[in-house]
Amino acid sequence: MRAHAPDIIRRLPELRARVASWRKDGLKVAVVPTMGALHAGHLSLVSQAAATGARVIVTLFVNPRQFNNPEDLAAYPRTELADAAKLATLPAGLGADVLYVPDGATMYPSGFATDVVVAGLSEGMCGAFRPGHFTGMATVVTKLFTQTGADLAFFGEKDFQQLKIVQRLAADLDLPIEVIGCTTVRENDGLAMSSRNMRLSAAAREVAPVLYAQLQAAAAQLAKSTAFSAVRAEATTGILAGGYQAVEYLELRQETDLTPITHATGPCRLLVAAWLDGVRLIDNVPVRADAA
Ligand code: PAF
Repeated sequence: MRAHAPDIIRRLPELRARVASWRKDGLKVAVVPTMGALHAGHLSLVSQAAATGARVIVTLFVNPRQFNNPEDLAAYPRTELADAAKLATLPAGLGADVLYVPDGATMYPSGFATDVVVAGLSEGMCGAFRPGHFTGMATVVTKLFTQTGADLAFFGEKDFQQLKIVQRLAADLDLPIEVIGCTTVRENDGLAMSSRNMRLSAAAREVAPVLYAQLQAAAAQLAKSTAFSAVRAEATTGILAGGYQAVEYLELRQETDLTPITHATGPCRLLVAAWLDGVRLIDNVPVRADAA
């Protein structure tokens, strides 16, 4: 199949007109929200969205309201040309139809005064270490959902807490959209793909996969009913010994509503945030108690 470059749309009225023309043809619409710096994980979300037969909108907006640290916002890669080129490599039928790149005034016009706050789910883990992050994220995602009017939205499981928050807000606000979580895409050495990986030095990139290796080892222990307190201590030591500077959190949570738990029972997740080379990386794995 031939590759297909998406049309770049920057203005909301034009986006709405495009979506209306698709609707007239009886087509469904899917959205893949991004902040750019696209990698194979994003491209896989786009292809999964396109495989449903829906028209696909990729959004690109580096959302200042979800950065609690101005240096982090300044350092965030902005690579629109490269992003558009990457999307253009996807074959027709598995690619994006539109790359929507709104500006700050479109997303936050003068006088903008609304926050979308998802209580509970937003409070622990990344929410505790990045105050305001999830409110900024939930607000912009709600706007992207209403601007695109999409029927389906595709999010990576790497940001598992984000995924749960977005599913909650869509249900709570009766947004007519299905939020679909997709398996984390990893490099060959296991490192979860992330736009932040490009900020790692060569030496740090070498040791970065330790995070996933420790998560896997910990998940195997938890599956044998080992108490989480013991597993957490061992995995934290392993991550630090592997070259990371700090472990921000390592938590075992129920998958349904992210309730903290002490032993693996039912579908649960092990989630981590850790610092390497001045870069904050997150990852998570599912934990399934041994059937035996
Ligand atoms: O995961 C991200 O890249 C962002 O949090 C999102 C969902 C695009 C909202 O800005």
